[in-house]
Amino acid sequence: MNAKTKLSVNINKFATLRNSRGGNNPDVVKAAIDAQRFGADGVTVHPRPDERHIRYNDVREIKKIINTEFNIEGNCTEQKFVDLILEAKPHQVTLVPDALDQVTSDHGWNTIEHKNYLIDIIKVFKNAGIRVSIFVDPVIEMIEGSAQTGTDRIELYTEGYAKQFLIDKEKAITPYIAAAQKAKELGLGLNAGHDLDLHNLKFFKQNIPWLDEVSIGHALICDALYLGFENAVQMYKRQLV
Ligand code: PXP
Repeated sequence: MNAKTKLSVNINKFATLRNSRGGNNPDVVKAAIDAQRFGADGVTVHPRPDERHIRYNDVREIKKIINTEFNIEGNCTEQKFVDLILEAKPHQVTLVPDALDQVTSDHGWNTIEHKNYLIDIIKVFKNAGIRVSIFVDPVIEMIEGSAQTGTDRIELYTEGYAKQFLIDKEKAITPYIAAAQKAKELGLGLNAGHDLDLHNLKFFKQNIPWLDEVSIGHALICDALYLGFENAVQMYKRQLV
């Protein structure tokens, strides 16, 4: 039997929509409550220093109502982000090497070059009882480097998979299987995210059944516009069985 892979729903896009008008519609706290009610195993947010979608205060409000797994992603080189994590104490923090002006995450950590930095910052979060995951490309050396940092998990950056899947899905999954096997061998938990959708998710899970968690935002929220949020969450969950 397959191990359970958790679906963490990234609700940043609710905040993007809200911020485009001012006011509080849609309400991101309600979105988190509903994601959980509709079957999500967790909620993910990605506050950025300019607060262009999720605001730091949203994180505090969501923390009050979360009864599943709370995952906060972000750039830990910002002290503001570190302070927020230590205050909100989510179940998991996912460290992403974003530049300040990036539209979305587009690369993983260089775990060799930034090894000492990662060791220190990971210790800060783990000492506070927070599980740590670091965002990495599916490159064996980077997975080996991750194992030296003390991180609990890695999150494989799946944009490359999603793009190549449209051309040749076997070729698309190959480096991810190798990276996932290496992670397992080194005792690292395994998450994945970025551009996963209703077309490519099932194949990813079938090939890497020991996957612990996926975090999905953009495609799921786009699908929700047509299918409704509850249906979209349920359809994504069905890809993971
Ligand atoms: N994982 C990380 C680290 C991300 O930065 C994002 C995007 O915020 C995601 C997963 C989710 O990607 P998508 O919105 O394409 O599903």
